[in-house]
Amino acid sequence: MLHARALAQLSGVKIVAASDPLLKEPPKLPSGEVRLYAGHQDLLARKDIDAVVIASPENLHRQAVEDAAKAGKHILLEKPIATTLADADTIIAAAERHKVKLMLAHILRYDVRYAQIKAAVEQGVVGRPLVCYARRNATIQEARRLKGRVEVEEYISVHDIDQVLWYFQDRPVKVSAEIARGPVMQELGVHDYIWITIRFAGGGLAVVETGWGLSEAIGRWKRPSSWGGFGDVCLELIGEKGSLYLDYRPMTLAAVDEEGWKFPDTLHWPQLHGEVVGDVLEEDRYFLRVLRGEAPVISTGQDGRAALEIVLAAMRSWKEDQPIRL
Ligand SMILES: NC(=O)c1ccc[n+]([C@@H]2O[C@H](COP(=O)([O-])OP(=O)(O)OC[C@H]3O[C@@H](n4cnc5c(N)ncnc54)[C@H](O)[C@@H]3O)[C@@H](O)[C@H]2O)c1
Repeated sequence: MLHARALAQLSGVKIVAASDPLLKEPPKLPSGEVRLYAGHQDLLARKDIDAVVIASPENLHRQAVEDAAKAGKHILLEKPIATTLADADTIIAAAERHKVKLMLAHILRYDVRYAQIKAAVEQGVVGRPLVCYARRNATIQEARRLKGRVEVEEYISVHDIDQVLWYFQDRPVKVSAEIARGPVMQELGVHDYIWITIRFAGGGLAVVETGWGLSEAIGRWKRPSSWGGFGDVCLELIGEKGSLYLDYRPMTLAAVDEEGWKFPDTLHWPQLHGEVVGDVLEEDRYFLRVLRGEAPVISTGQDGRAALEIVLAAMRSWKEDQPIRL
């Protein structure tokens, strides 16, 4: 319901309905009453809805997009686009067939720091990208929340894979991945960490390191209640003429008290004076610009498919214990 909260803050937006089979009560938004439906078809039948955000579990995206597109609703779809390439293709085709706008919620494209890297690369500041390393390690609470429903590459690596593809603008030709199993595997049956190597046609190389096995202590504090925890994130990109560095550990703010160290999320969806701010708000604001015809979609269905193709190749690579050629 994070998108609903963020979108409701934007002028000209009214959140009128939500659909979730597991919710008991409609979300409470300061902007007014929200009608809750158990199934999305009733919501889609409403004539007063122009656009929907689809943030259901990954394997349910295809059906939801097909139905929303058929009903003529524009769509902001959470990552990963789907869990199979066949579903991704169906999603893209459905949006095209019914002429609705489809924007993938690859949130880092709406983070000012990642977008600055893109601008620097595009303007030739570092020359042709040669290598990129991106890390995103979350705490074990994140893995527990999902109860083993997806692998970490489907849920988290996809963010950084999308960034790497955005920066390199080259064709990936080979993917290798190695995993490490630890407490997450023991408790939930999915692996703890994955390191993915992506080789590009032009010779570029990227390494995406992802996991969700960091100590609970990093995000377990109780105070301040408005602080949300995150993990350990960084990115470096080295090109022929220069390099770029991003370090999110901590995200510019840290505290220590009797509970221990605290590193809050100050970037993705922190609260500011009772509102949701950060990347998610920027992403939703951008979606609104797309809906109004003021901006093009910059995270397309094809971008979602491209990132998924690498996720799936990485999964094949560790399962078959060999590099996968694309
Ligand atoms: N961009 C990001 O940073 C980000 C962060 C978290 C999650 N996500 C994405 O959002 C999606 C949901 O992930 P999550 O972590 O919020 O999962 P979640 O399990 O926490 O929440 C999913 C919600 O979907 C509801 N749901 C279940 N079946 C449904 C159905 N048939 N129709 C409608 N709703 C249904 C559940 O009741 C639940 O409220 C995934 O695609 C995930 O990858 C993106």
